Amino acid sequence: METKIKIVDKNQIDENIINEAGNLLKEGRLVAFPTETVYGLGADALQEDAAERIYEAKGRPADNPLIVHIADYEDLRTIAVNIPAETDMLAAHFWPGPLTMIFEKSGIVPYGTTGGLDTVAVRMPENPVAQALIRAAGGFVSAPSANASGRPSPTSARHVLEDLGGRIDMVLDGGDVDIGLESTILDITVIPPMILRPGAVTAEMLEEVIGPVSMDETLMSADGEQPPKAPGMKYRHYAPNAKLVIVEGDLREEILAIRQLAYAADRKGHPVGIIATSETLPFYKYGVVKNVGTRENEKTIARGLYRVLREFDEENIDIIYSESFAAQGIGEAIMNRLEKAAGHLHISAAEIVKLQKYRRVTFVSGTDSARGPMAAELLRNCDLVQEYVINSRGMVVLFPEPANQKAEAIMKSAQMTLEDHSSHQFDEENIQEDTLILTIDESQKEKILSEYGDSGNVFTINEFVGDNTEIPDPYGKPLTAYGECFEVLNRLITKLAVKLNSLTEEEK
Ligand code: TXA
Ligand code: MG
Repeated sequence: METKIKIVDKNQIDENIINEAGNLLKEGRLVAFPTETVYGLGADALQEDAAERIYEAKGRPADNPLIVHIADYEDLRTIAVNIPAETDMLAAHFWPGPLTMIFEKSGIVPYGTTGGLDTVAVRMPENPVAQALIRAAGGFVSAPSANASGRPSPTSARHVLEDLGGRIDMVLDGGDVDIGLESTILDITVIPPMILRPGAVTAEMLEEVIGPVSMDETLMSADGEQPPKAPGMKYRHYAPNAKLVIVEGDLREEILAIRQLAYAADRKGHPVGIIATSETLPFYKYGVVKNVGTRENEKTIARGLYRVLREFDEENIDIIYSESFAAQGIGEAIMNRLEKAAGHLHISAAEIVKLQKYRRVTFVSGTDSARGPMAAELLRNCDLVQEYVINSRGMVVLFPEPANQKAEAIMKSAQMTLEDHSSHQFDEENIQEDTLILTIDESQKEKILSEYGDSGNVFTINEFVGDNTEIPDPYGKPLTAYGECFEVLNRLITKLAVKLNSLTEEEK
């Protein structure tokens, strides 16, 4: 089947296109269309076999009921009975909009649409293209999200075509959606009303209008013993191809933990992805890093989440680490979808961070022109299980200078280089709790301790690795002296790498 693609401007709707699409729906065909939440795959809600086509096109289990979309409030009475009193108030506040309510169904709604249930889910979308289409189709359009079952919901027409191109009759392309996560589902047939799926209409917003609402507790739990009340919520929807793990902690710890996880994966040759935010993006060096939105406005994160998950499916990625978000307001919906995509896989950031005694290694020599930079470069070339910032400093550096030429010649012959090095004076800023300070000899250590006090992380290299071989000073001597110094340093730094690796217990 050829899928027709029609671009529709929601501010200037082309009636001809809408009528063509409406007629297709009346004939029992399928048309995907934009709503403010996600793209929907529309069918006439009152035709039993139209619903069947939806299940077939999506590859969706038939016990998963559809939401019936209406454009005019009075149409609710045609498909729902025993409508609770709060409905008027809820509709006045949230319709049209991203709220779906569950009612007892009327006889006119086929069981094919409700997945065999005696209740029906109803929503009135705000998107003008959706409203025009619903009216053109006769008033009742059932529409699940227009993704293939098990894929993230589509937030653009392109996503719809990726999943359903060739399987449906038409796509109305109204551009990117506004909200990006599916509607809030509220069951008002129970007291107090219960949220079956969190969305952009939050619990707080509902409570302001109708008082206490409850939350289907099974949504956030991992045990899977109790099935959720909305049948569709039990499936591992929104699942990316790669394994997705949520890293939880305070933001600083999350960043440090994800850095380490990405470094470790990269080191083992596993392609790794990171779900980051505008604020945290610059902190990540390894892996494919994607910006889901800004923490200053969580709506942007809701809008970006499914796009980012889909983008990862196009990359060759084994594992994705995601930052987490506070489950408040729209954050509740964001975390609910993220949890589902992750199959409730979590890592505690604190557990990982606590394994990292040091995050920086600073080598200190006299002038920071030969032995210090050599040691630093040797360590950078070691296979370390943890990522360290490795640098060098000197106790007497008057102005920045490149590395000693003989030192550079020796390093070059060992396929390393000090080309980028420029000498720096050791100062107070180098004294940090997470920095391991290793001096070339006792004199630099003494000087640091007397100037800055003993914070317990200053050692000579010899002392730290437990090897007394003296590091010779080649300054002013021929190249061979630099070669001998290199040999000693090479041995000590190899031992240092082993020691550092043993500190990161994870790999023991
Ligand atoms: O934002 C949305 O709601 C989008 C757009 C297209 O409107 N639609 C959407 O539909 O997300 P779908 O089919 O992907 O999700 C419908 C959810 C499923 O979890 C389903 O189990 C639940 O609504 N549902 C439908 N009828 C129900 C009912 N009678 N009782 C309980 N849950 C119901
Ligand atoms: Mg869906």
